[in-house]
Formats: sequence, C-alpha cells, structure tokens
Amino acid sequence: MPPGVLTKLNRNGIQCIASVTLLQRFPYHLNHHTIPTMDHNRPTVGGVTAEVLKAVVSQALLGKFTAVFPKLFKCQWKTYEGQKKFYANFSTDCTDSNSNNMSRKFCVGGNWKMNGDQKSIAEIAKTLSSAALDPNTEVVIGCPAIYLMYARNLLPCELGLAGQNAYKVAKGAFTGEISPAMLKDIGADWVILGHSERRAIFGESDALIAEKAEHALAEGLKVIACIGETLEEREAGKTNEVVARQMCAYAQKIKDWKNVVVAYEPVWAIGTGKTATPDQAQEVHAFLRQWLSDNISKEVSASLRIQYGGSVTAANAKELAKKPDIDGFLVGGASLKPEFVDIINARQ
Ligand code: PGA
Repeated sequence: MPPGVLTKLNRNGIQCIASVTLLQRFPYHLNHHTIPTMDHNRPTVGGVTAEVLKAVVSQALLGKFTAVFPKLFKCQWKTYEGQKKFYANFSTDCTDSNSNNMSRKFCVGGNWKMNGDQKSIAEIAKTLSSAALDPNTEVVIGCPAIYLMYARNLLPCELGLAGQNAYKVAKGAFTGEISPAMLKDIGADWVILGHSERRAIFGESDALIAEKAEHALAEGLKVIACIGETLEEREAGKTNEVVARQMCAYAQKIKDWKNVVVAYEPVWAIGTGKTATPDQAQEVHAFLRQWLSDNISKEVSASLRIQYGGSVTAANAKELAKKPDIDGFLVGGASLKPEFVDIINARQ
C-alpha cells in the first residue's frame, strides 16, 4: 500500500484521507474501499493534505466519525474527554511517529560554496523569485558569508538562508571566524556544518564539528549536519562504519534533533559528476535510519530528514527523490544554475 493513501467514505458524504499511521492503527476501516494514491502536489501536514486533515478533524470533533466507524468510536466518543484524547492521538500520529517519508517535509539545500558575486547572486535570486517552487519543499540557500545579508534581501522570504560554517563560540579572539550569533543577527537561520571540504581541506575533526553543531543549535540556528565516506573508505567496505562514526560524534553533543537535517554526501560523488545511484544512496540512508532508531530513538529515526548530496542535477533528482529514505538534497554546482528549480520541484 502506498504511503499516505486516500479512502473515500461515502456514507454521510464524509471524505477522509488516512495516513499510513492511521491505517496501521485502524486497518479494518479500509476494507472494501477504493484506495487511490494521495495527491502529493497538495501541501501536506504530516503526510495528509491540509484540507483533508481539517475535514477529518472537524468531522471528528463534530462526532461524525461515530456514525462512520461506530464500533471503534463508540466507547471513546461518549464523552468530551474521549474526543479530546482521540484528537491528541490523531495529531501525534500525523506529526511525530509516522515512519513513512511523506511525513518528513522534503528539504533541498543549495550549497554555493565559494562561488558567486553580487551580479550572479542577483540573477539566481531573480530566477528563484519568479519560479513556481513546490510549497511542500523547504529550501535553504547556503551562501558565502560575505554575501549573506545581500542574498537575504534579494531571495524570497520563505527560503531559508544558511552560513556554510560557523565557530563553536559566540565571540572572541578567533580571527577570520564567524559565529552562529552573527549569522542570526543578519537574518540567516541555518548553518551547514561538517561538509567534507571543511573536513578534508581545513582539517576539521568529528569532535570539533559536533561542538559547532551543539553551539549553533543552542544559539537557535538550524543545522545541516554533513557526513559521508571517501572513495577509499567505500572501496574498503567501510561506508557504514564511517557514517556511524560521524553520527556518533554528533550524537555525543546533540540532544535535541528537531532542528537538524543530516546530509549524507559520499565524498566521491561531490563535484565529480558521479552520482550515487538511487539504490546506493537509499542503502546508506536506510542504514542511517536504522542507526538512529538503535542509537537515538524511534521518533528521531522517523522524523529526522536525511538529504542526499553529491552531483545532484535536474536529470537525476526525480529518481533519487522517489527513494523512501531520501528526504531532500544538498546541491552544490547545480544550485548555481536555473535547473535548481527543477531539483526543488523533484517530488512533483
Ligand atoms: P555537488 O556538491 O552537487 O557539486 O556535487 C554537493 C555538496 O558539496 O554539497
């Protein structure tokens, strides 16, 4: 059964879309009903379109479900307390513990790296402002620090803005560094940390990156936490071991994962034109999901978004986006081009 499905309950003219969680919870509701695939082009709340969620909840609050599912609701719905309890469970199911990927908002980051000038940034901003961007995709632009304020003024306000690095303390004698407090001060709301270029070229360790993440989160920034194995590590069969080690370091310092997105970026695929195949990427994403479940919690495993990064283009984004554990992309080269719009809209 596809994630996020629709069932039409024609009795009483009530229409209801049930998420997979609801299906698992009350599977017998759906017997004998036609179940078409949910319209993923509509904005969703916890994997259910907002209109339908509203309808379901308002019907539920009106007690009309009792008429539709008499057996199930008979006891729960006799009292107002019972209704409130059901409503509370319903909300929790839809937002927190749904383990299918439609419940995690697709998130696409553009990592401009050390590229761009005022002219080209104005052009990119114009392209993004005039395009129809999927409202179900969260977009974050990782801009060189010196242009952050300039980009903030030109980019559509619903797009997030990220620094590409930030130090682990708020201020002090750290020549050349910027702090999360400074990023926040000029209107950035995200920071990309632990990118493989920071690790390999600037010698950043797992431990330092985790400290940076801890401090950025404490300062109220959202964090794109990058991980990924090198070609040698992959060829030596150490991919899982390496990404688990990198995740372990983050987990030592991150206690609340709500404002974290993990970007899995195999180093051999970054800037090389050599994308991981959708199956290769999915395999590692699924491993990470399991790792989170075993080492953090089932809730974090179900809700944490894991982006894929490494030579994502308009040509390969759609296939990658179909994989159940790929919740978005971190895009380098292609984020500087108009095709970034198609990558943002890969789920459409
Ligand atoms: P790429 O870079 O898309 O140019 O491969 C990805 C990244 O480094 O985040």
